[in-house]
Amino acid sequence: MDEGKGIALSSKKGEEPGFTTRAIHDGQQAEEHTGAVSIPIFLTSTYKQVSPGTTKGYDYSRTDNPTREALEKSLASIEGAKHGLAFSSGMAAITAVSLLLRSGSKVLSSDDVYGGTYRLFNMILNNFGVAINMVDFSDVEAIEKEMSGNKYDMILIESPTNPLLKVYDIAEISALARKHHALLVVDNTFMSPYLQNPIKFGADIVVHSTTKYIGGHSDVIGGAIMLNDDSIYNRLKFIQNSTGAVPSPFDAWLTLRGIKTLSLRMRAHCDNAMEIFRYLAEKKEKGFVDRIYFPGNPGTKYNKIQVKQAKGYGGMISFSLNSPKAKEFAEALDLFTLGESLGGVESLVEIPALMTHQIIPRKEREARGITDGLIRLSVGIEEINDLINDLEKGFKKVFG
Ligand SMILES: Cc1ncc(COP(=O)(O)O)c(C=O)c1O
Repeated sequence: MDEGKGIALSSKKGEEPGFTTRAIHDGQQAEEHTGAVSIPIFLTSTYKQVSPGTTKGYDYSRTDNPTREALEKSLASIEGAKHGLAFSSGMAAITAVSLLLRSGSKVLSSDDVYGGTYRLFNMILNNFGVAINMVDFSDVEAIEKEMSGNKYDMILIESPTNPLLKVYDIAEISALARKHHALLVVDNTFMSPYLQNPIKFGADIVVHSTTKYIGGHSDVIGGAIMLNDDSIYNRLKFIQNSTGAVPSPFDAWLTLRGIKTLSLRMRAHCDNAMEIFRYLAEKKEKGFVDRIYFPGNPGTKYNKIQVKQAKGYGGMISFSLNSPKAKEFAEALDLFTLGESLGGVESLVEIPALMTHQIIPRKEREARGITDGLIRLSVGIEEINDLINDLEKGFKKVFG
């Protein structure tokens, strides 16, 4: 990996089709009756049956819908998994996975996770007897000790984490999960299936907020689960149909449209984020920036792991200023829109402590490093000079 550049797009002769080919074609053959190249949006809730109980493969769109089915095949293919399931949001996908648990189950999770995941486990699932212990997975020996002393049913990690961009060794953690008979679930949202495939390193289940890089255009909310195991897939498909948080056919179509250009977008995100990292590193040398959190920061322990398991550093960077004026900095930007979410073609800026992670109690948040001064950037694919000029406005506003 060359600092996010030079990521291979092509497959070798005789190998299975490369990522971009699969992203454009898998699950999306031309439609049978009309030859439509773009999969039709099957806006139907129900289907005419041949005779009572005999269908042409579809009976009701919560259970199955051809547009969603195309998306699910595509999602499985790009993540290198046997099965894919699409949901109405990333949180719906994580909720479906958590319904594999039962009262008395215990989950070991990374302490740095999306605020909504924190909220789901600590403010909803706890009421149903599911316990969660959130720890830093950097120290694998400490995790091993914890797992030896306690029975956990599931490990749930993000890598890189949101918002501190910690990188965890998925292969090591999956070996631990296997040894202690826990399911390993990896939220791969920050990387996208183009940059990282946790199943290759032993993860049992991958989840995504497809709202982010997979959709890629900040126009649709969605979630996904990808996995290999047939029996867990059948349970999750049952949960999907029973709880009903499925995407509409139009949302499925929009997400499919995003997938076709995922590789191109990710390369541009990686290139731009690396340039912004260098720019921020210069600002750090000049004393304006205090800390930078980025998996592409060379020489860090996180960088070493990232190079092993991903083919790029992604488009997310967090940093703090040597000034308490993070809010003023964010407000001074124009191209970086002040907003939650990430992974779209347009750049976004946010203050996690006041926005995406405000649900975590202040004391707990600050103990983890999510201070009011932390700024998170989702670097888009605009022209890099324009993005840097925009950040310059923030530094001018705060430091004069
Ligand atoms: C890492 C991560 N996982 C899950 C989610 C939840 O996804 P959604 O907003 O699509 O429900 C988010 C949302 O920001 C996220 O950042």
